[in-house]
Amino acid sequence: LNYDVNRERRYILELLFNGLRRLEYRGYDSAGISIDADAFSGVGNGNGHVTCQSPLVFRQEGNIENLVKSVYQEVSATDLNLEESFSVHAGIAHTRWATHGEPSPRNSHPQSSGAGNDFLVVHNGVITNYEVLKQSLLRHGFTFESETDTEVIPKLAKFVFDEANEGGDQTVTFSEVVLEVMRHLEGAYALIFKSKHYPNELIACKRGSPLLLGVKEFAEEQDNGTSYNGMKFISKNGHPKELFLSSDPHALVEHTKKVLVIEDGEVVHIKDGGVTILKFNHGKGKDGKSLSRPASVQRALSILEMEVEQISKGKYEHYMQKEIHEQPESLTTTMRGRLIRGGSSKKKSVLLGGLKDHLKTIRRSRRIVFIGCGTSYNAALAARPILEELSGIPVMMEIASDLLDRQAPVYRDDTIIFVSQSGETADTLNALEYSLQNGALCVGITNTVGSAIARNTHCGVHINAGSEIGVASTKAYTSQIVVMAMVALAIGADTISSKQRREGIIESLLNLPGKIREVLKLDEEMKDLARSLISEQSLLMFGRGYNYATALEGALKVKEVALMHSEGILAGEMKHGPLALVDENLPIVVIATRDQCFSKQQSVIQQLKARKGRLIVMCTEGDSAAVCGGSCRVIEVPLVVDCLQPVVNIVPLQLLAYHLTVLRGYNVDQPRNLAKSVTTE
Ligand code: G6P
Repeated sequence: LNYDVNRERRYILELLFNGLRRLEYRGYDSAGISIDADAFSGVGNGNGHVTCQSPLVFRQEGNIENLVKSVYQEVSATDLNLEESFSVHAGIAHTRWATHGEPSPRNSHPQSSGAGNDFLVVHNGVITNYEVLKQSLLRHGFTFESETDTEVIPKLAKFVFDEANEGGDQTVTFSEVVLEVMRHLEGAYALIFKSKHYPNELIACKRGSPLLLGVKEFAEEQDNGTSYNGMKFISKNGHPKELFLSSDPHALVEHTKKVLVIEDGEVVHIKDGGVTILKFNHGKGKDGKSLSRPASVQRALSILEMEVEQISKGKYEHYMQKEIHEQPESLTTTMRGRLIRGGSSKKKSVLLGGLKDHLKTIRRSRRIVFIGCGTSYNAALAARPILEELSGIPVMMEIASDLLDRQAPVYRDDTIIFVSQSGETADTLNALEYSLQNGALCVGITNTVGSAIARNTHCGVHINAGSEIGVASTKAYTSQIVVMAMVALAIGADTISSKQRREGIIESLLNLPGKIREVLKLDEEMKDLARSLISEQSLLMFGRGYNYATALEGALKVKEVALMHSEGILAGEMKHGPLALVDENLPIVVIATRDQCFSKQQSVIQQLKARKGRLIVMCTEGDSAAVCGGSCRVIEVPLVVDCLQPVVNIVPLQLLAYHLTVLRGYNVDQPRNLAKSVTTE
């Protein structure tokens, strides 16, 4: 935040806390904040010299509200004036998902250069060469207090600053210090630096992890005088402004929709209310040693396509609950403008703008490979059969980390489809880089416009499901399946023999939101089922064909949020091991809706019943007697075309996982140890 209007310190704190609350879904095991100790007159004496006290730093284990409480407690125990005014203020804050070092105040960010807080850093990502840097800083007399990889960064900044100022006068600029620090960092990062040597200034930089700069000017409606002059934002009549840096648009949207998307290697320097963006220039200066020479970058403002309502819970108690219930709408948005029904030729077809120029190449591929993690992988698995059927091309499944572990062969004539809600998952991104190097055609399916996967793939489709904040993915899953079904339709569009099949699927897609509305009526029934399972240790889910993915995803939901062991099992494998677990106590969900595997699932049910299995059968409406003769619990769902049945079938299981979690007393939106976007390997 670069703050340009006289307000009180309390306002600054609240603004930063609120930003953290918006980001909490990305990590919530500890948090921290740094604000200035003193009120400053403003911009210094022209040489960048402003003497000031060390910035104040507060760090706390646990969620944001713990931090808020502890800051106000500490403040009330000191003489710190909450009503103090600032003409310019630069504050930073961070919420953490631990990668290196347990959640604790000393491992929280901001990380510091040491006593006096000469340099403070908040970091999203991971520094892979931190051990080497740490050893070298230790040799230079630095001592470390945390177990984080991040701590080397502020210490390196202090080292660079001290070296550059050895002669006495402070001539090195803040951005020069950071550019030099960046030259030594390996790994992925978005960083914000604050320093007592550069009050009222902030530096942010990134490589790999996302970073946005938001620009807000007050009273601009009346003023309309924002001139965009290079990278300086100047209000003609001097209206105050706020500048925001964040790794995620959710923290910005309530303040401004005007953003600059910062790119890899760039350094943002905020000073005196102006912004300069510098591009990191590899290599050394003329003397082979000095700081690298950066070039200034011009960038147009983008407008965030996100509404504040989208990121609030509305009438719901939890984000996950809201996101489950808004699936009829999110699916409608996913399909909007992409399905063409009727017309003079009565033709039904699919139009995917981001893919149309690449369809010929895709049809000529030797294989199609799906790559993803977690729920995104499961969504791809659900779409695999229809893609194989309509394209006639072998479709392989790869979990991103496993592809990399094996360094599996990837060919120039492969089409690789990267599926990721966030578009930022490190494993998926690394697999993308690997596939690009191997010359494959790379297609992105993400929910995040402008994300790394969206930007770095050759082509792709956005799922347009709207912001998903609940850590456990729900509406993104169903929208991903629908998009991949549409991709299958587009790839198969020139095959005459499958025309009727394709038209049937398009018709079913158009009716899908209505079917989801129907299946959501099972909410109370699922709550009741959850009550009966509340104290179980384990829950198995059997599926096959189109609904093997439903079993995996249903089990993942239960595991993630309800913290109950749950396993999705391919029903065809039942006899080869899982049957040993079956007794009258272990609850088992069997998915047996109507499709070509129906009779096989009926026989699975018979075998489970013969072993006194405690069954919960998901079947097509009206099938309950046929499926288990009234002797087991059933979940009846509406019938849709076979390849879209997973979209309907997952909804009751999402509701079950949601209610189980609430009844078991766990936090639905912030499951233990998990994070929404895993931006580290
Ligand atoms: C994390 C989340 C999961 C998600 C997975 C992949 O593990 O907790 O909910 O499915 O990452 O994320 P992506 O953004 O790539 O779909």
